[in-house]
Amino acid sequence: MTSLDDQAKAILRGNDKGGYTLPTHGLYPYQWNWDSAFAAWGFSTFDNARAWDELDTLMASQWDDGMVPHIIFHQPDPGYFPGPDVWQTGQSPATSGITQPPVAASMARRIWDSDRDAGQTRIAALYPKLLKWHRWWHEARCTHGPAAITHPWESGRDNCPDWDIGMVNVDGSGAGEYTRRDTGHVNPEMRPTKEDYDRYIAIVKYGVSVGWNPEKIVAEGPFLMADPGITFILLRAHDDLAAIGRELGEDVSEIEGWANALRASLPLIWNDALGAYDARDLRTGAFANVLGSGAFLAYLAGAGNPQLDKQLMRAWDKVTYGIPSADPEAPIFNPRKYWRGPTWPVVNALIAIGLEDSGHHDLMERLRAETAALIRKHGFYEYFDPIDATPCGGADFTWTAAIWLTWAG
Ligand code: DGY
Repeated sequence: MTSLDDQAKAILRGNDKGGYTLPTHGLYPYQWNWDSAFAAWGFSTFDNARAWDELDTLMASQWDDGMVPHIIFHQPDPGYFPGPDVWQTGQSPATSGITQPPVAASMARRIWDSDRDAGQTRIAALYPKLLKWHRWWHEARCTHGPAAITHPWESGRDNCPDWDIGMVNVDGSGAGEYTRRDTGHVNPEMRPTKEDYDRYIAIVKYGVSVGWNPEKIVAEGPFLMADPGITFILLRAHDDLAAIGRELGEDVSEIEGWANALRASLPLIWNDALGAYDARDLRTGAFANVLGSGAFLAYLAGAGNPQLDKQLMRAWDKVTYGIPSADPEAPIFNPRKYWRGPTWPVVNALIAIGLEDSGHHDLMERLRAETAALIRKHGFYEYFDPIDATPCGGADFTWTAAIWLTWAG
């Protein structure tokens, strides 16, 4: 039996398509934006040059306006829906028309820190592209203050309860006839529902109908919500990008301005009634009124507080393994259904960085021990039941292997 370190490296190598890494074979057969940034972090533990290659292929897909798409369809694959023929973005290589959580700058900083000399020219070449993406976030998506998403898939936490109040207003009948592929790869009970999918596809079709015009999508699209998860990830990434820029001798005042504006907007996503950060429908102003794991990414941005600490312990103490993606005491909680309850090793790793940086070292260690126990028991799955450790979703998963090598192992 090889060691778990060797197994994790073999997963990264096995999912490596040459310059980019699949999240997992079958279920996700292309390059995904935030998965790729975590893959790079994982590679940096044993192949620094390959780590930079991963970030290069991701940023090479950047649109002219600065947006970095959530999927890059390098090669055709009939095993995934919706593919490039559905998105119709006209990009080369073909891409989806939406983005994903901007963890790339934070991962780039960590990779650079792991080998300063090897990374010097690589980070200098990436910096202007990361800067352009962050400017896009500020100008296109922070117009209401916190970071806004136009499709639940942009959050990376696709079907989490945060989006329910926005999704009820999306007319799923616009989806038409289609065949899902995800449910042929993994247990359908662990995936989003048909109603969710109809709405996901209807939002994509709306994007196609307006030629993926970003202003129009934000102003009039079927879905617009403030995402606490992306807000905190972006805030941390702005700080990391500014730190990189300073070391490269760049003027970072523009980035500092974006970070200050984003930090000043945090009261807009603090829900007093819930006692936590919360998602908010930007069309109606309504809060989701449900605790999700995105709230705990606040620690990553130095935005924790004693009330949030209480919520964290309340939710976490109800389960045995890792931080649940939805509130275990809420009626919507389902411990095996994707983002409606399971614990996600990759999100645990991000929250852990935040806990450690906010002085909660003991909690970080608890989170590491629980996450490592899941992987030791069952291997490198996409997500897990936080109550009985049942492995869920895709197996041999890139980002679970990556966070084992960088943090949990
Ligand atoms: C999927 O296909 O489930 C992805 O999460 C969309 O990005």
